[in-house]
Amino acid sequence: MAIKTLFAGSLKAWGLPYFCLTDNGFNDNLLPMARQKHPPFLFELFCILQNDTHGQTDIARELLINSGVKPEDVIVVAKAETFRVVVYFNNCKKADLVRAQVNQHLKGAFRFKVKKIKNENWKVKTAKIFSVFALTNKFDIVPSWKQKSYRRTPRMPIIIDSINAFGTGLHETTSFMAKLIERREGRFQSFLDIGTGTGLLAMIALKCGARHVWAIDFDPEAVVAAKQNLKVNGYSQQMVRRADIRCFHAPKRFDFVAANLITRDLIKYKRQILSTVEKNGFLAISGIMIENLSLLRKAFGIKKLRCVKVHKGAQWVALLYKRIL
Ligand SMILES: C[S@@+](CC[C@H](N)C(=O)[O-])C[C@H]1O[C@@H](n2cnc3c(N)ncnc32)[C@H](O)[C@@H]1O
Repeated sequence: MAIKTLFAGSLKAWGLPYFCLTDNGFNDNLLPMARQKHPPFLFELFCILQNDTHGQTDIARELLINSGVKPEDVIVVAKAETFRVVVYFNNCKKADLVRAQVNQHLKGAFRFKVKKIKNENWKVKTAKIFSVFALTNKFDIVPSWKQKSYRRTPRMPIIIDSINAFGTGLHETTSFMAKLIERREGRFQSFLDIGTGTGLLAMIALKCGARHVWAIDFDPEAVVAAKQNLKVNGYSQQMVRRADIRCFHAPKRFDFVAANLITRDLIKYKRQILSTVEKNGFLAISGIMIENLSLLRKAFGIKKLRCVKVHKGAQWVALLYKRIL
């Protein structure tokens, strides 16, 4: 299931409520806001959790989903030690209804509240903040609206036209993946991007020599965004499909599989993910918060896999495994 983990940060300076700044500035997770149409107000249904030691964020998320909220609309914002589980509604009645439904199951453990917030033109703001940057030693990210002013560098430009999905490259979880793929440049023929978002990792794989690329996402808006981004970069859109890894039947096994999901899903769907990786192929996983690393490594510490590379940042980790059996 999709969960969007954000970090609160100084985008407040732009008047944006809680989105995260990465080292590069803008975080992909403005997108739930950017996707909203533009009614004057939004209704934010949220709860604040002091920690996640007993999987409270998962409980909150499941309750929302059981009340009819789409999994991809649930956002978890990690801020210092606390977690905020959030959904945005256009309609106050709907927000109140879901609040009443979830709270009746909570018996005071924690409570959801509704807050009315002023809507802004998030898409315009997002576009203003997102600018050209060097993703890796090899690739520049170039928003399509900055193409005219882009001055060539020794790196290859990848154009991002639609940011209506996760994967601008600004988030560490994406940039770590880009580096892991780049590291194996020229040494894989087939590539599967599980949870492709904007399609960025699929494009990096293509530029690193992959010939057969598949990109899947269960979010229809991500599928549209990925297709659009592939198109503007001159690639076929046919490699992008709407599919859920939980029930995905891969047509074949791939030399390189990338899955930037969340720890819980990586562990829960490990069998499905692994079934897509060719023997002697590589699996790059990302979306792992540092505090979940030992849990993840335990789950992936199986005979079939050997960990060959770890990228560790301030909050996130990505790992590259080789499938040896
Ligand atoms: C963190 S984003 C990663 C996007 C991009 N690959 C990147 O690295 O920046 C996770 C993506 O996985 C998708 N996703 C989450 N759960 C999924 C599932 N069960 N099956 C397919 N896609 C999923 C989400 O919709 C989202 O686009």
